Order: sequence, then C-alpha cells, then structure tokens
Amino acid sequence: MLDVNRIRADFPMFKNNPELIYFDNGATSFKPQSVIDAVTHYYTSETSNIHRGEYPLSAKVDSEYDRTRQTVARLIGCEAREVVFLAGASAALNQTAYGLGKSFLKAGDTILTTENEHASNLLPWFRLQSENQIKIEYLPVSKEGVCDAETFKKAMHPGVKAVVIAQVTNVLGSVQPIKEIAAIAHENGAVVVVDGAQSVPHMPVNVKDLDCDFLCFSSHKMCGPSGVGVMYGKYELLQKMEPMLLGGGSNARFQSCGTVQLKDTPEKFEAGTPPIEAVIGLNAAADYLMHIGMDEIHAYELHLRKRLVSELQKLNNIVVYNPDNASGIVTFNAKDVFAQDSASFLASRGIAVRSGNHCAKILHEIIGTDQTVRASMYFYNTEEEVDKLAAACADISVENAIGIFF
Ligand code: ALA
Repeated sequence: MLDVNRIRADFPMFKNNPELIYFDNGATSFKPQSVIDAVTHYYTSETSNIHRGEYPLSAKVDSEYDRTRQTVARLIGCEAREVVFLAGASAALNQTAYGLGKSFLKAGDTILTTENEHASNLLPWFRLQSENQIKIEYLPVSKEGVCDAETFKKAMHPGVKAVVIAQVTNVLGSVQPIKEIAAIAHENGAVVVVDGAQSVPHMPVNVKDLDCDFLCFSSHKMCGPSGVGVMYGKYELLQKMEPMLLGGGSNARFQSCGTVQLKDTPEKFEAGTPPIEAVIGLNAAADYLMHIGMDEIHAYELHLRKRLVSELQKLNNIVVYNPDNASGIVTFNAKDVFAQDSASFLASRGIAVRSGNHCAKILHEIIGTDQTVRASMYFYNTEEEVDKLAAACADISVENAIGIFF
C-alpha cells in the first residue's frame, strides 16, 4: 500500500488548502514540488529557446527537452522518436484525425468508436465525416460503457479502417480491452487510435504490448504542467502523416516556389516554439509517477474505488452508474437531485467533484441521463477523504441540495 501521507507532503496544494478534499482528478491533477521546481528552474535559470541557439544554455535546454521524450518513452514503452509533443490531448487527437484524414482514410471508409467518448475524441472525427465523407459507427457497449472483445469482433467489417476509443472513458471510467481490440482491428487492416487521457496517469500503459497505432494524452492530468500533451504514433505511420501545423523548427528547407521539405518525426509535428517549460515539467512528472510505480498507483486507486462504491451502495438516496469498472472514477447521482446541485452541496462540505455531462455529450444514450456527479480519484487521495465523501453523499436531498451557491 502507498504511503499516502508521505506522498501528500510532496504536493503544496494540500498544505495551502488544508480543508479541500479534491476528487476532480479526471479534470486535472495537483503537481508535486519537483514539477513546480523544474518549471521554475527553467524560468529563473535556464530561459532560452530550443533547437535554435549555438550557445551552451540553449544546448542544455535542448537536451532537457529531448530527455522528456526518453522519459515518456520509458513510461509508455515506445521509442523516443515516437513521442510527439503537442498542446494537449485534444491537440494530439486533432492531429491524429487530421493526419489520418489526409493520408490514410478515404471517402466511404468507416471509423468505429463508442458513444462514451470525450468531445475531443469525437469532434475531430465528426469533421472527417462531414468534410471527407467518412462514416462513423458506434460500438455496442455494456451499461457501464465497456465494449468487450467478442462484441467488438462482431462489429468489425471490411469497411472499418480506423478504431477510435478511450482506454479509460472520462465519465464512467470504463476500461476498454485495447490489446484484444487492436489485435482484431489489425487482422482486418484498421488502425487503432487510443485516447489515453484518463489511463496513462493512472495505470501501466505499454503501447508495444497493446499494439495500438496512436495514443494521445495530456500532461496536466498526470501531475505535469498544462499546455503540453503527447501524441504517440508508430514511427512508420508518423513518417507518412502530414502535420496540421507548419512553421519554424519543423521544416528542413523550403523554396520560393513553395516546395517544403519537412524534418523527420517527431520534429515535423512541432512547428513554432513549444511550451518548453511544460515539457521539462512533464519530465519531472513522469519520473515522479514511475518512481511511485504505475502498478502501485492503479492498485491503490482500485482500493479507494472499492471502498467508495461499497459505502455509496449502502445509501438509499444514491445511484452509482459504474460499480464494477476498474478505474478510479465513480459516477453517481442523488435520486431526484440535479447533478450540479449535488456537486454544490458537496462543495459546501469542502469536496470538489465534477458534475454535468463532462464533455461526453452523447453518453446519455447509454446511461439514460446526461447529468452525473463524478468523483475521480488519484493516488494522493486518502481513505478518510473517501469516507467523508460518502458521508456527505448520505446527506444530499432535494431539500438541502437546492439553493446552495458560492
Ligand atoms: N477531460 C477532462 C474531464 O473529463 C476535462 O474532466
């Protein structure tokens, strides 16, 4: 079991907000001091641009930037040249959709996805539907949002050229069997794009083992700074893919007649000055998580989830939508109470959760409601916090949840 008290001492947010109980880790995570120090050090002692300076400081920052690629590669089990830094998971998914739309998918091809997906993993594909005449089909999923391999196999057909799916969905925390899905998809000639925004921060993820073709995730949900995310792609696919952004740093040469020769992957995707401090901070974050251990983090979150679900299931006023999913996300409602009112009530007890549709606006087609309360846990949450959340949930009612404002 993790030494949570020792871990919490690494996060200034706890010291500075002693009353706050934070269960909105699916939205963003707190940052340990080592990440804050890495960013501050760049600003106070190492400010310079990368890949452009012949002086020692720039060379040093160059190597720190590149070291993050190696660290992220270790985290997800790929080669450093397969790690592309973009502005976030949304930017990475947009780039993936754009690139596949340009070079791989053609009119009439089908993309298989689920109604669970976050807007950032649907809207870029919707654009291909309207602009490139790509078809989108939805995989059947269980009431907890999971698509098992057998169901997936039945849904596959020769027209499917891409499978687009979150490894862990952001509302129900459904864990999809990516490895099995990828094996079936590849047998049928389809590429597999995985939204890893809610999985990479919380569990061991190895892209070579999963054999997915693309994996996109953000830094800020995994203890790193905002403003940077990762698009992992198999090298040969990235080499064939067109970047969405063009500009400085990503081209090898260009001529007045308009010909442009791009650099190799990953630089060709990283036009312009990147968020250098965020990339350097991401290195510290990935190091921090690996030091704790992704297996340990995942096991601890499952322990907290089990405790919360079991407490919530004792309450007559609460309905839990995902009691059996294997992630740190627990989604519920208080009977007859609007989700935002429940969240405001919990906030009045010092507890931060997310409520609403959580950017997954067609999920209601599966669970029958488009407003839920989501408690998303991380390895720094405690059993006491879980018990306080459950106790507060017991008190949510139509009478006391409505009319609480901040
Ligand atoms: N994607 C983030 C969430 O699910 C913001 O809350």
